[in-house]
This record gives sequence, structure tokens and C-alpha cells, in this order.
Amino acid sequence: MADKQATLSYRDKSIDLPVLEGSVGPEVIDIRKLYAQTGAFTYDPGYKSTGSCESALTYIDGDEGILLHRGYPIGQLAEQSSFMEVSYLLLNGELPSKSQLDEFTHTISRHTMVHEQLATFYRGFRRDAHPMAIMCGVVGALSAFYHDSADISDPEQRKIASHRLVAKMPTIAAMAYKYSVGQPFLYPDNSLSYTGNFLRMTFGVPAEPYEVVPAVEKAMDRIFILHADHEQNASTSTVRLAGSSGANPFACIAAGIACLWGPAHGGANEAALNMLREIGTPDKIPHYIERAKDKNDPFRLMGFGHRVYKNYDPRATVMQQTVREVFDALKVNDPLFETALRLEELALKDDYFIEKKLFPNVDFYSGVILSAIGFPTTMFTALFALARTVGWVAQWNEMISDPAQVIGRPRQLYTGPTQRDYVPIDQR
Ligand code: SDX
Repeated sequence: MADKQATLSYRDKSIDLPVLEGSVGPEVIDIRKLYAQTGAFTYDPGYKSTGSCESALTYIDGDEGILLHRGYPIGQLAEQSSFMEVSYLLLNGELPSKSQLDEFTHTISRHTMVHEQLATFYRGFRRDAHPMAIMCGVVGALSAFYHDSADISDPEQRKIASHRLVAKMPTIAAMAYKYSVGQPFLYPDNSLSYTGNFLRMTFGVPAEPYEVVPAVEKAMDRIFILHADHEQNASTSTVRLAGSSGANPFACIAAGIACLWGPAHGGANEAALNMLREIGTPDKIPHYIERAKDKNDPFRLMGFGHRVYKNYDPRATVMQQTVREVFDALKVNDPLFETALRLEELALKDDYFIEKKLFPNVDFYSGVILSAIGFPTTMFTALFALARTVGWVAQWNEMISDPAQVIGRPRQLYTGPTQRDYVPIDQR
């Protein structure tokens, strides 16, 4: 019994509702018995005030700009860890020992190949198909290939499915890119790191050896870390809701990919770079800031604003620092970075953005880096999906292994017609 209570007065009743405390962050008012006790639902479209689950994976403090994975700050993980180590942490709850990390990395590397039959799926797409359309289709199709990891009540099968998903996403994403440029698929090379393998499968060609540039590999690995998990965002909630019915794990991740694609969510990284290209030079920025503030103009600053962060997204800080590292490593420069820096500077001085607490988010600078590395904008969200798969899988496992979990089934405020009788067509 929770020792804290909230009291709700509703009509002629006074209802005591338990207040639950987490290890950190806002308390929650447990309304699970509200409908039974009052006959009324809560109402929260967009879930701005709703906690959908209990989780021990990721904590975000939007006011302070804090992001922790299993308690470790994202800045420390980005600086000192690796995507494989962060994946282990998210899936298992603790940082691995050296031998545990080596074993995990070896296991993942042994699942990087996809069934040869899966390659034929790509041939069904037009060459100009958006990589996210391909990712939705091909990842969903994985549910037809792995019947030995479909019994989600078996922890071992959940573990194998999890490893397969984390391992195969780089291969599937790289194949989507290769297909779009008409180049042959490359098989994984397990002598490379997870991220190095992905870079080679993406940019390598059979005709010559591919040298992984360490600084680019490090930057890409850090970008994967920054995208790994993020509490109960829209796509993670989609994976949880799909998984709550007992659906095939591969199909659940495909549902997450579909949700992530939207420009309000993971699709914002592609939209942000396209926006910077449309703005072009810094002298055009004031015009676009005025457009973003104009309620009659659908234009928004893409890569700006966040449902939770009302402070600087800590991932954007790391991302901005990474731009310079990649530019130095590749000896490139992109004037759009200066445009992005100037846009941020002017927006953060503008009362509209200050009052609405709109700051750059993870998607604002990532496109500048990915473009410098050589990815087309259409691949940006596919890279987000690649990295977020471990978060989706960890959240799905956390839900499925909870004995108390039930199918998610929200209710509604009905405002349609009340009951009426059918009218035959010759009487209408
Ligand atoms: C991600 O949830 C997550 O954790 C997501 C994510 C993850 O890791 O999973 O962090 C990844 O999706 C980051 C967000 C990427 N999306 C974008 O960058 C798209 C641009 N941003 C917005 O569309 C918006 O900020 C959202 C969708 C991100 C958040 O929207 P909310 O929380 O529903 O807030 P809102 O749309 O109600 O905006 C509040 C106000 C509105 O004005 P008013 O109606 O109050 O007058 O701020 C305005 C909005 O018009 N506003 C913006 C704006 N974002 C919000 N105005 C101009 N430009 C913007 N970018």
C-alpha cells in the first residue's frame, strides 16, 4: 500500500488514489482503479501528463537537460563508452566486465548476416524507395524467418531475437543504401567493430579494400550511443503497445520504425538538414525565424523543441562538438554548420523560443555530421532506427518480462452521434 495518497473529489465522491515514488523524478498518481471507482476516464491526448509504465532503463529530466541510461549520464557514456557497451548496459542493467563485453560483442557479430532470401525483398522496391520504407518492410519480414525466436514467453528466445535485431539492423540499413545507389550488397566483415562493419557495408565496394577512418568510426559510434534509447517517446511507446498484444518481436520493431519515420519524431533529422539547405546562408535566418513564429505558417524549425526537454537536449551538446571532430578528420567544412550555429544563436535570443522553451534537440546537428560522412539525407532516419533498435528491444524485454503486464487498451471521450435507427436508402 502506498503511504502517500492523492484525494480526488468527483461528483458526490471523494476518492483516495495511491501516489507512487520512483528512484528519481516526478511521483505518479496511480489511477488504475479510477474508472471502477468513479465511472470516469482520465483524458490526456498526446500523453503529456501520463506515465504509461514503470521502467528502469532511461531517466530524463527535461527541465535540467539530464539524460541517464541505467543511471549513467549520456555525456559520460558518449565520451568514455562504446555503442556495444551501452547496448549491453541497456539490455542487462549493468556495465559489462571486459570478458562480458567481449562475449556480447562476439555474439552480436555472429548474427550480423541476414538470410540470403531476405536480399530478394529489396528487389521488390523501386530504386528510389525511401530507406525507411524499405526498413519498415524488411524488418517486418524478419518475423517470417525466425520461428525459433518467436516464443516470447521463453527468455532465451527473447534474448536471441534481441541479439538478432541489434545485429542485423546495420546490415539491413546498409543494404537499403546500397540498393538505392545501385551498388552490390556487401556481406558483414566480423573482423571489424559493429560500427566499422556498418561503415564498410555502406561505403565499401567489392572492387577495392575499404579503410575505416578511426575518427569517423568513433563519431558514428558516438552518434549511435546518442540515439540508443530515450524513455517513452512515440516510437518506443509504439513498440511497447504492439508488444503488449504478444506480437512477434520483429513486427513490433517494424512498428517502431514506422512511427520514428514521422518528421515530428525521428524524421526530424532529415527535415532539419533540408531546412538548413533551404535557409542556405545566415542572412536568410531572420526570415525563417519569423516564419517559425507565424501561427499561419506551417513552417517549424526542425530539430528544435521537445516534448520533454525544456532546456538544452544534452545529446545536441555532444552532437555539436562531434561536428568539429568529423570536419577535422575528413578535412571538410560545410557552411551549413555555420548557418546552424547562427540559427541556434538567434533563436535562443528570441522571446518566442525563450518563452516556449524551445532548444535544439538531438536532430538539429546530426544531419550536418551524417552529410559530411557521406550519407544522403534519406538515410538519416534509418540510422536513427538502427541505433534506437537496442532501446526499443530493451524496453520491449522490460515489458514482456513483467508478469503484471497487460495489453495496452486506452479508452476515449466519445463525441459522435448517440444511438439512432438505420434509415433505408429509399427513405433518405
Ligand atoms: C525526437 O520524445 C522523444 O524523446 C523524441 C526524441 C527521441 O530521442 O526519441 O527525442 C527524438 O523526436 C526529437 C524531436 C524531433 N522533432 C523536431 O525537431 C520537429 C520540430 N519540433 C516540434 O514539432 C515539436 O517541438 C515537438 C513535436 C518535438 C514537440 O511538440 P510538443 O511537445 O507537442 O509541443 P507543441 O507542438 O505543443 O509546441 C509547443 C509550442 C507550440 O506553440 P503554441 O501552440 O503553444 O503557441 O511550441 C511551438 C508550437 O507551435 N513549437 C515550435 C516548435 N516546436 C514547438 N515552433 C516553432 N518551431 C518548432 N520547432
